[in-house]
Amino acid sequence: KRPVTVASLARMKAAGEPIACLTAYDYSFAALTDAAGMDVILVGDSLGMTMQGRETTLPVTMEDIIYHARCVAAARPRALLMVDMPFMSHSTVDDALRNGARLMKEGNAQIIKLEGGREQTEAVSRLTGAGVPVCAHLGLQPQSVHKLGGYRVQGREADDAEAMVADARALADAGADAILLECVPAALAARVTREVDVPVIGIGAGADTDGQILVLQDILGITPGKTPKFSHNFMAEADTIQGAVEAYVQAVRDHRFPSAEHSF
Ligand code: KIV
Ligand code: NA
Repeated sequence: KRPVTVASLARMKAAGEPIACLTAYDYSFAALTDAAGMDVILVGDSLGMTMQGRETTLPVTMEDIIYHARCVAAARPRALLMVDMPFMSHSTVDDALRNGARLMKEGNAQIIKLEGGREQTEAVSRLTGAGVPVCAHLGLQPQSVHKLGGYRVQGREADDAEAMVADARALADAGADAILLECVPAALAARVTREVDVPVIGIGAGADTDGQILVLQDILGITPGKTPKFSHNFMAEADTIQGAVEAYVQAVRDHRFPSAEHSF
């Protein structure tokens, strides 16, 4: 099978083929995830929690992300390799360019993801202009947890919803290759998906986005403590880890995941 590229994601959006995405942080799980037919593998800064046992994503460094990205890249996945820009690694355009380049050159990223709205348009335009594909992360931005005062659904109020649509448009116009929406009411995520030309990937954003992403540990039911409402333990119906990851991919492709119980 041919490698997945940013062009493939655009084609999938146009064809209405759901894009299946999952996080991975190491070689073994990257290989397993790729063998399950995943379209995108994300080396998320959620590794602060899943790999390091931290309370938030804030302590994750460029070195941490690059280490895990290299481990994942060693599986030479067919899936598109997306890597997160850590907290405060892109707060100036110069930092965004320097650190984005590091994720590509040292981490083997094929697309980078960064949290932020219209204030990131300059960084997005310079990065994409330099050949770095970018996914913009809107809605709940976990790196802003202390500003938000907790992890909660974003865009419930009409003016917040309008601002999110405007942010998505601005980022797409700046050249973003994809948009990720986290913890957004399903109706708002559906609207963003209709109104922007680039693929929209959702987590806790309902069924009507172009793709879905979840955290590996959540779908395997091995997250210590409480798992988020928007996730599902695919191990409950599977005999093997490989089977659970395959079941997730199939459920996304067949529009069986997410259902209303996973949505806001
Ligand atoms: O870091 C991460 O795993 C993410 C996903 C939750 C989208 O950003
Ligand atoms: Na992240």
